[in-house]
Amino acid sequence: MDIGIDRLGFYVPQKYIDLVELANERDVDPNKFTIGIGQSKQAVPDLYQDAVTMALESADQVVNEDNREDIGLVIVGTESSVDESKASATYLVDLLDLPEDVRAFEIKEACYGATAGLQMAYNFVAMNPDKKALVVASDIARYGINTPGEVTQGAGSVAMLISKDPHILKLDNKSVYMTRNVGDFWRPVFSKTAFARGKYSNEVYVDFFKTLWEKFQTKYDMTVQDFDTMLFHIPYTKMGLKALRTLDGNIPDAKYKELEEHYQSSIEISRNVGNLYTGSLYLGLISYLINGDVKPNEHLMLFSYGSGAVGEIYSAEIKSDYKKYLDIEYIKKELNDRKKISISDYEDIFEKEVENGDVTAISDVHDKFYLSEIKENERLYKKLE
Ligand code: COA
Repeated sequence: MDIGIDRLGFYVPQKYIDLVELANERDVDPNKFTIGIGQSKQAVPDLYQDAVTMALESADQVVNEDNREDIGLVIVGTESSVDESKASATYLVDLLDLPEDVRAFEIKEACYGATAGLQMAYNFVAMNPDKKALVVASDIARYGINTPGEVTQGAGSVAMLISKDPHILKLDNKSVYMTRNVGDFWRPVFSKTAFARGKYSNEVYVDFFKTLWEKFQTKYDMTVQDFDTMLFHIPYTKMGLKALRTLDGNIPDAKYKELEEHYQSSIEISRNVGNLYTGSLYLGLISYLINGDVKPNEHLMLFSYGSGAVGEIYSAEIKSDYKKYLDIEYIKKELNDRKKISISDYEDIFEKEVENGDVTAISDVHDKFYLSEIKENERLYKKLE
């Protein structure tokens, strides 16, 4: 039975900053941000937005009357959770009118969370072929104003509907994974911003890729020639390139050139949105499906990495008529209709937050789902009708 991604949704906040303007404001050469880091724009979430509202927005794009009643599992992968106890997924069940006979929960392992959810969803559908699973990656990447990580912030979410006979991506059920207790990136419960040993994180990421890629080739007796495209976890676009470059000189030049061209198509959206944390790999997939020169039934290798650290490489096949099932025009419009804000407006939003019992920070709502208030320390969400 074929199992995989039947539908994909993507949500990005409407506001963004230009990273050349950020570089000028921080007294940094703009080329460091646009070339050295490889980022051009960065999404800025509004005060009424968080991991829950963004998850709702992308999930709303894939849930419809035809599939709602079949959904038996809802997993939100996030490292920007709004509650230490209650799962974001419970809000999705409510506001998306999903059936009650559903398992709904949240998964955390840094940027690996969505992949953990996807693999769990695969197993769920294998055991329950008439059911579907909703897996949503939703995050706000925050390092802090004027920190080295500031240029690698971002926000957004990706929703995936997993089913049998998928229309977008068939998972091959070929995968290798590994876990090591590594201190490359963490966010203690008291902190709204992450702590990172950025350069060390790069080293661990590249090492995980090299180790897993060797493992994958040995386990399945496959080589790079078996793949048309390699997709990477891309917290910023230079990072995936560092992993890809480990192949340069070790595989035929023409193959490397092809993989590099495909990589460029996979980073176009991330370059203009920024870090989605656990959604980053899947935003790369969407970007490749929209911008790549995709061949019928193309074979993909996907490298997922979550600091801390867990990594996984798995393979998949793009379904030849995927364009009928991915709303490319909607995603392009979403990206094009965004509004640039000044660096001082971004700093203002970054410093503020919605306080318990005070709704004054919630204004100018232009999304379907939003945080309406915090009452008795409980976050309450609404849907604009
Ligand atoms: N023109 C072009 N490139 C330039 C440049 C310029 N004027 N100035 C610097 N660069 C390049 C550097 O050579 C470097 O490239 P390289 O990585 O290929 O060597 C890159 O820009 C970054 O410069 P660097 O000095 O390393 O930047 P930094 O000390 O500010 O740190 C990060 C960059 C990415 C490490 C930092 O933003 C960070 O920690 N981010 C968080 C990342 C993280 O931990 N993620 C974990 C999730 S997996």
